[in-house]
Amino acid sequence: MNRTQVAIVGAGPAGLTLGQLLHRAGIETVILERRGREYVEARVRAGVLEHDVADLFEQAGVGERMRREGLVHGGVELQAAGERHRIAFDELTGKSIVVYGQTEIVKDLIAARLESGAPIHFDVDGVALHGLDTDRPHLEYDESGGRHELGADLVAGCDGFHGVSRSSIPQGVLREFARDYPYGWLGILASVAPSSEELIYAHHERGFALLSMRSPELSRLYLQCAPDEDVSAWSDERVWTELQTRLGLDGWTLHEGAILEKGVTPMRSHVVEPMQWGRLYLAGDAAHIVPPTGAKGLNLAVRDVHVLADAIVAWYASGDPTLLDAYSETCLRRVWRAEHFSWWMTTMLHRRPDGEEFDLRLQLSQLRYLRTSRVAATALAENYVGIERV
Ligand code: FAD
Ligand code: DHB
Repeated sequence: MNRTQVAIVGAGPAGLTLGQLLHRAGIETVILERRGREYVEARVRAGVLEHDVADLFEQAGVGERMRREGLVHGGVELQAAGERHRIAFDELTGKSIVVYGQTEIVKDLIAARLESGAPIHFDVDGVALHGLDTDRPHLEYDESGGRHELGADLVAGCDGFHGVSRSSIPQGVLREFARDYPYGWLGILASVAPSSEELIYAHHERGFALLSMRSPELSRLYLQCAPDEDVSAWSDERVWTELQTRLGLDGWTLHEGAILEKGVTPMRSHVVEPMQWGRLYLAGDAAHIVPPTGAKGLNLAVRDVHVLADAIVAWYASGDPTLLDAYSETCLRRVWRAEHFSWWMTTMLHRRPDGEEFDLRLQLSQLRYLRTSRVAATALAENYVGIERV
């Protein structure tokens, strides 16, 4: 049986970042990924990096292109009741965010991995985890027509919400906390210069809309829709008309362009506790999901593996398991802060399908409070750029 120190399941942002951090610390890892490299590199998802997450990529040696091509934003616009108001992150917190696509981070991390020569296996099927409650766990997987075995000291479950890691933990061990929302997001990527320098989060009677971007030539936009929305019901023309209505403001123009990608994302909150069982450590979407409104999913995934990498390095260096034992508790403090922030942003900005007027009044009051109170705006800003100590 082949052996490694840390077996990593999944080559999303969590698995790839963990591989990079451990490689730089001289710890051997093997990454097993179910999909092909092209698929993983093309999957359009998140786009906002917290201040300290951008710094972490730089410290991990994969920040060069991000610093060159990423767009540094010192704030975002909140729009409601026909008014647009800037939340000035830089002024309120001294921090900013970096707009840089998850696809680009994933490409940079895969390039670094391949250059390092550390093993990463794409197109691997049937991953199974064994002996997780012993100190000799091992994995089995199918590759190139054969079944293979891989022994490890530790296993990192970085295989997302639908992965195999979380479901390898026996029934009754984990507590699950979940909330479904009666909305989804229809997202598009469009070949047109962004119509705003910064992101616009818009509350509108027809539903939430978000203007974001990927580069000076690429816009990313979202519309609140039903969770099971049929994307084929949305012609390009219908998408642009709806975006014009929800984002429109006197004296401002939303520029249109060719739509390159269109998809629907459901929204849910989900957390499991603890994020560890025996020698298996869950990280990122495998352990928790947030609705996307706070732009936290990718950031949480990277923060988890930062904590995990430090704990693993300490354990190999001294045999001291204190940090590893504290992994779940340490991460869950940040996870629940992000769960609250994402739920709060979602609830404040989305139109309830039942049209409940009481909730609408609460939303408008909260949005007005953010416009008129520096303290309220600072709380949003602090959560958005990423809280240092939770
Ligand atoms: P993932 O990125 O899901 O990576 C997990 C990896 O594991 C995948 O490559 C998968 O193929 C692999 N895998 C799964 N099962 C197995 C298996 N059995 N064996 C081997 N490999 C396996 N967040 C935002 O902040 N803003 C957004 O706009 C946004 N949009 C999103 C849109 C979609 C459709 C989705 C699904 C998520 C979105 N997110 C968004 C969330 C954000 O992208 C995730 O939080 C982030 O990708 C988490 O990274 P991860 O590495 O934990 O998981
Ligand atoms: C993007 C996604 C988000 O969920 C968000 O809150 C802001 C921006 C994006 O894809 O650019």
